[in-house]
Amino acid sequence: MTKPLFLMTDPGHYDVSYQINPWMKPEVWEESRRRQAEESSTALRRAVEAAGGEVEIIQGVAGLPDLVFPANAAVVLDGKVLLARFRHPERQGEEEPFRQAFEALKARGVIQTIVDLPQGCLHEGAGDAHWDAHRQLFWTGYGPRSSKEGCDFIEMTFGKPVVHLQLASDRFYHLDTCFCPLADGDVLYFPEAFTPEALAEIRARVASERRIEATPAEAAAFCVNAVLIDRTVVMAKAPETLRRKLTARGYRLVEVDLDPFILSGGAAYCMTLRLDRA
Ligand code: ARG
Repeated sequence: MTKPLFLMTDPGHYDVSYQINPWMKPEVWEESRRRQAEESSTALRRAVEAAGGEVEIIQGVAGLPDLVFPANAAVVLDGKVLLARFRHPERQGEEEPFRQAFEALKARGVIQTIVDLPQGCLHEGAGDAHWDAHRQLFWTGYGPRSSKEGCDFIEMTFGKPVVHLQLASDRFYHLDTCFCPLADGDVLYFPEAFTPEALAEIRARVASERRIEATPAEAAAFCVNAVLIDRTVVMAKAPETLRRKLTARGYRLVEVDLDPFILSGGAAYCMTLRLDRA
C-alpha cells in the first residue's frame, strides 16, 4: 500500500511581514523566530512521517512568506490539480512558484493534470475545500477569500458534489480554520465561524453523534486545522478539553508546537497539502 503523500514548503523564507488576516502580527515578528519556525516545521514533518505519511518538500522564495501554506496552492484529487488564485496581492506572487512545483511533480508522474480557474474566479485551494472521503464530496468555504464561483468550478473540475459553506468572520477566513472531516463521517468544526445557513447545512448533513464541536479556545489554538492519517490527528498544541473529546472517540492526538505559524494564521493542515487522494 502506498503512503499518504503530503507537500510542504521549506520555511527558510518564512516571516510575518504583512497583515491579511487578524491573526497576523508583523509587529510581533522578529528574525530570531525563523529558527523556531524551522524547528516547528521539521517537527510537523516528522509527526506526519511517524503517523505513516510521506512528505515532499519544495523550496521557499524570498518575499513570499506564506508559501509555507501549500494547502492554499491547489485542490487535488485523482491526480488532478486545480491551481489556486489568491484574493490578496500579497499572496498572488505564490501562484507561479506553486505552478512550477506542480509542473515538476507532473513530470515525475506524481500528479497527472493541472487545471486553471477561469479568469476572475478566486479560490484558495484545499484551505477552502476539504475532501470528505466518507461522504465523497467537497466541503467548500467562501466569503473572506474564495468566491462561490470558485467553489462551483471545483464541482465541474472533479465531478464531485460540492457543499457551499459561507464563512461569517474574518478570524476564520479559510474553511480549514474552522472545519475538519475526521474518520467515519466525524466532523470537527467551530459553529461560530459559519453563517446560520452554513451551520444548518452542516447539521443537515452530519448526524448529531458525528459532530464534534470545537470551543472558541480550541479554535483559537488552531486545532481544527488538523491533518488526519488513519485515526491519528496531527495538530497544534491542544487544550485539554479537545484532547479528551478526541481520545474518547478513539483518535490518537499528536501535538506539535506550531506557534510561529499561528502567528500568521495557519497550522498543521494548511502547512501541508495532500497529493494522493483518489
Ligand atoms: N497568512 C496566511 C494567509 O492569511 C495564512 C494562511 C493559512 N492557510 C490556511 N489555509 N488557513 O493567507
